[in-house]
Amino acid sequence: MATPEDRIHSLREELHTHNHQYYVLAAPLITDREYDHLLKELEELEAAHPELTDPNSPTRRVGGEPVEGFETIAHDVPMISLANSYDLEDIRAFDQRSLKLLGSTPYSYVVEPKVDGVAMSLRYEDGVLVRALTRGDGRSGDDITSNIRTISSIPLHLRIDTPPPVLEIRGEVYMNRDGFAKLNDQRESEGHAVFANPRNATAGSLKLLDSREVARRPLDAVWYGLGAMDGIEFETHSGLLEQLTKLGFKTPPSFWTCRDIEEVISALEENEQKRSEYPFEMDGAVVKIDQRHLYEEMGSTAKSPRWAMAYKYEPEQAETLLKDITIQVGRTGVLTPVAELEPVQVSGTTVSRATLHNWEEMERKDIRIGDTVVIEKAGEIIPAVVRVVKEKRPHGAAPLPTPTTCPACGSPVVKREGEVAWRCEHPGCPAKSQSWIRHFVGRRAMDIDHMGEEIVKTLLEEELIATPADLYRLHDSKSQLLEMERMGEKSVENLLQAIEDSKDRELWQLLHGLGIPMVGERTAQQLEDHFADLDELMQADRETLVVIPDIGEKMADAIRDYLAKETTRTLIQELREAGVNLKRKQEPVTATDTPLSGKTVVLTGTLEEMTRNEAKELLRKLGAIVTGSVSKKTDLVVAGPGAGSKRAKAESLGIEIWSEQDLLQALESGTSSEAEQRELF
Ligand code: IVH
Repeated sequence: MATPEDRIHSLREELHTHNHQYYVLAAPLITDREYDHLLKELEELEAAHPELTDPNSPTRRVGGEPVEGFETIAHDVPMISLANSYDLEDIRAFDQRSLKLLGSTPYSYVVEPKVDGVAMSLRYEDGVLVRALTRGDGRSGDDITSNIRTISSIPLHLRIDTPPPVLEIRGEVYMNRDGFAKLNDQRESEGHAVFANPRNATAGSLKLLDSREVARRPLDAVWYGLGAMDGIEFETHSGLLEQLTKLGFKTPPSFWTCRDIEEVISALEENEQKRSEYPFEMDGAVVKIDQRHLYEEMGSTAKSPRWAMAYKYEPEQAETLLKDITIQVGRTGVLTPVAELEPVQVSGTTVSRATLHNWEEMERKDIRIGDTVVIEKAGEIIPAVVRVVKEKRPHGAAPLPTPTTCPACGSPVVKREGEVAWRCEHPGCPAKSQSWIRHFVGRRAMDIDHMGEEIVKTLLEEELIATPADLYRLHDSKSQLLEMERMGEKSVENLLQAIEDSKDRELWQLLHGLGIPMVGERTAQQLEDHFADLDELMQADRETLVVIPDIGEKMADAIRDYLAKETTRTLIQELREAGVNLKRKQEPVTATDTPLSGKTVVLTGTLEEMTRNEAKELLRKLGAIVTGSVSKKTDLVVAGPGAGSKRAKAESLGIEIWSEQDLLQALESGTSSEAEQRELF
């Protein structure tokens, strides 16, 4: 019989492994549910045996008691910064200096992305994470170990049999773009100030004194450097990156080893091309000498090493005229000022609108109608106004006054205590309904085609609909629909058919579409994994809800409050009567029993038989992890016509490439049932 102590140790080890598989390798071996089960067993055993607690137990990822402040601790090896360069001449000059310093000693370079996050140093003693320090002033930093432990991709133990007595690993903590956008959406709907960019969001999150709150922030990290060491050595930087991966760390998603400066220059260009593929904001590249034994010989200046150089890319910014400021009313009633811009090209797309977030933010940046503004668009993030070019401000430009009434319904607006947002709280506000319906019919919700902005607006104005449930009664108003502008027989039929088809969506799509406060797509999927139908969810108490990974107490209360409302109950009843699916259609996948489970798959090119979202959803159901960019970790690329660089990269890495037909065939002959296939296509 294993003792509780043995079981605790083996559970911890098992959970560390699954954590690594999921968060670092993006290749889970078990389902979330199985993981939760193991975690629960460990939690119970630890509660029964408090003498066996360990701050690095996987149970501690959720954070612990808040602290009053952070201790400042000296770095064993100072954390210095990098010299910056802005053009290729600077890079060539760097090579000339290296050549001068090293004479005839051969050397090569590594180029890697420069992550725009927060620098961090992790100290492992005998393989165990003992401390995480911020850079601080470079000589000493804040001990934020309890916050860092909550970042799931950071190993709490080195994955090595005989660990060195001391190893300090350095890198960058960041917030990925999707997570950042969701966090800001959530903050906006809760009336909190939004973060200006992912780096601020990361810094702000790491400063929180309550690590349980940090655990809820979508933080991640990459590691590329060393601090103090004892009992371990690394010969080259490229070798270090490889070793770090083996030790359990996430490293930069791509790097280039370059024999000479010309190769460095093409690597810098290739890296820039990947900008939008990276999950983090990249503010440049770093060029490093590969041979670590040369570092001492080359030395450092007071501020930066002579063996490395940062290269900054042009920021994705542009200047344009702010013609007007309009006010949007979101589905939760939050008023958002929106900049209407003279259209301008930024990193390949035309931008004509940008969010101004809220009035406080507008005041802070002193933004006025008629100003010339600098806008920025980075990756997927909505364009934002970075600053005003004050020199170009016309006479008499006035700031937009704080709102007193809702621009859509004229009701007085309110600002709740502790919030920055102004809201319209009128339940029947048409702008709120419009945002809500638009969200409900969206691709990632009930996916109803032919319901563009104009149609939704007209349907609301004509009072043909007020809530999502009314959509399912529209077939009774066919004659009114036919009277609407630009609505012929065919369009009406298409619209009604699209609505009819949406009755059969997945439960999570409905949950997402309802617009439950704080519940995004991912949380909706987690809810579906935990509840077989909407009725089960409606009966769930707080304790049941907080077991779900993304759900904290605040969100649990928001969900319960929403579901308890009379209007919600009526809405759900009406959806039920209309025949809308309220049930989970299939058991959550056991990610180990399908041919694609645990495989990392990239979709590229055009798909003909299904939409990209359908393909993603199908693959997700079959236990595959769908990612956006091809790397060594990709197992399979599904390439349709028009596939370009991703396909080429997969070929060069020797990754298996399938056509859409291959995928369909494999799915048919695989373990997934026919019924499942039919349901999904
Ligand atoms: S190497 C001796 N590599 O940028 C300094 N730094 O502006 C070694 N950074 O302090 C740093 N990505 O916080 C290095 N791939 C990368 C990086 C990187 C981001 C940060 C780091 C550094 C700052 C310098």
